[in-house]
Amino acid sequence: MRNLHDDIASVLIDQPALQNRIQALAAEIEADYADTDDLLLICVLKGAYIFLGDLSRAMTRPHHLDFMGTSSYGRGTTSSGAVQIIMDLKAPLDGRHVLIVEDIIDSGRTLAYLRRNLLARAPASLRICTLLNKPSRREVPVDVDYVGFDIPDEFVVGYGLDFDELYRNLPYIAILKPELFAHLMNHP
Ligand code: IMP
Ligand code: MG
Repeated sequence: MRNLHDDIASVLIDQPALQNRIQALAAEIEADYADTDDLLLICVLKGAYIFLGDLSRAMTRPHHLDFMGTSSYGRGTTSSGAVQIIMDLKAPLDGRHVLIVEDIIDSGRTLAYLRRNLLARAPASLRICTLLNKPSRREVPVDVDYVGFDIPDEFVVGYGLDFDELYRNLPYIAILKPELFAHLMNHP
């Protein structure tokens, strides 16, 4: 029987490290938004679903949630550059304090596009929180307000992040065995 853990070359961030960092991020966010009870967390699907779940549960103050789907990488491991909204928010953003919750920032194209798109909806404020950040891969500058971990230029899976729609359920952030994706890699 196939076990996803067998496909892992190494664990980059284990469960306790993830949970500690998320508790600290939640505390930092709640302190920054102390003046409002109208915080709206926007989960960028699919990759951020587990992070959103843990971040939201680490908060003790009231907040609302909404969900948005953006185009994914398909089978490859680098972005095509074009970003598409495949599922939009349920409610308008005007006058709301909005925090985008993302799994990872790589080229920056997804968030640069999302920020522009959501700013056009006239929120009272708009900030970005990402669990993972790959600064060395940036092609488009993005102002990120909250970063869980800066990581090296490695393709990672687990804790919501997929390769070919698998591995999202792994409870840690890990690097796959290279033979599993070597044929699909288009990193330079
Ligand atoms: P960007 O537009 O290049 O910044 O890419 C952002 C999106 O690409 C993320 O929201 C992820 O869905 C996906 N992505 C980027 N790097 C990785 C990775 O190492 N593993 C899994 N997905 C990734
Ligand atoms: Mg994502």
